[in-house]
Amino acid sequence: MLSTPTFGVLRVIFTVFLILGGLMILFLMYYKSSPSPKCHPPPTQQPNKPIVLLWFWPENKHFDFGDCKKLLNIDSCHLTDDRSLYSKAQAVLIFHGAIEDDLSNLPTSPRPGFQRWIWFNMDSPTHTRKIPGIQGLFNLTLSYRKDADVHVRWRLTVKKRTDEHFVLPKKERLLCWIVGNSDPQKGSGRRYSYYRQLVKHIKVDVFSRSSARFFKYEDYFLTISSCKFYLSFENSIHKDYITEKLNGPLAVGTVPIVLGPPRHNYEDFVPGDSFIHVNDFLDAQTLAKFLLRLDKDNETYIRYFDWRKNYSARRHLTGEKHVFTHAVCQACAHVGSNKEYRVVPNVYKWFFG
Ligand SMILES: *[C@@H]1O[C@H](CO)[C@@H](O)[C@H](O)[C@H]1NC(C)=O
Repeated sequence: MLSTPTFGVLRVIFTVFLILGGLMILFLMYYKSSPSPKCHPPPTQQPNKPIVLLWFWPENKHFDFGDCKKLLNIDSCHLTDDRSLYSKAQAVLIFHGAIEDDLSNLPTSPRPGFQRWIWFNMDSPTHTRKIPGIQGLFNLTLSYRKDADVHVRWRLTVKKRTDEHFVLPKKERLLCWIVGNSDPQKGSGRRYSYYRQLVKHIKVDVFSRSSARFFKYEDYFLTISSCKFYLSFENSIHKDYITEKLNGPLAVGTVPIVLGPPRHNYEDFVPGDSFIHVNDFLDAQTLAKFLLRLDKDNETYIRYFDWRKNYSARRHLTGEKHVFTHAVCQACAHVGSNKEYRVVPNVYKWFFG
């Protein structure tokens, strides 16, 4: 026998279920009538993400598009090298160095009205071939230049916490230089002639392909961090042309000796007390003397790391296949967040000045 209070409780529970059930039916009716499934994108394509088509693999250096997310946390576009997606691509990334002289390997089908072509060139004007006829083709520029639409650079980040203590890595060498391919005693250009003056007065540990010590990419950061100073010598001198040659030593706790644009241009990107500029010295001999003195004066040397209280530098991607990964991913990030209409009237006038 149910007592009256129990019956009362059961009645309340029953009423609540009835109301909930009714609401559920109403909700389902509403849900079924909402926009038809036709509006959903096909399952293989990521919803709402613009397609960025990489037209050429730069210098044939293939990497996994998933690396943008995995290594750089960039995931705002759908990157592809599948040319059959051309007519759907919001942006086509065109590597300048791969364009044929007669432009025959550029897209030939008509350009959809919404599509933007990105001029992709990480080299300086000295190392950029002028191909006639491409000036009016592009909507966006991607370059190391600060005024490019997509400005590619390894930047310092402002530290949120400033209480981390910097520990200077163990130093085994005084001054080092990693050079890509040629024998530094023979190379032409300002960086090689400066180097030849410098070695008359100070020992430089050179790591290059032609030297006895073959340099491996895996050892890049380890090698740099073992040196007190590192020659961050750019291959040509142009405004804003300051590459990962500066970032490497900053990231691992080594003082970069820079040769490139004037000091004030470096200071557009990194603190003025984080590097030594060759132009601050009369000649290579004076610089050598200064470095030898700093080698004996740890208190002064360590001040070159004061900037680390406020900023941090991250290790850039190294390895053959990753030379252009950062640039491609930044293009993806840009297209994912900027939709403006734009035309670059003359890309050469802008780039070569
Ligand atoms: C891109 O540039 C081309 C060539 O100048 C121009 O015809 C086109 O309208 C531009 N499109 C967009 C979306 O900016």
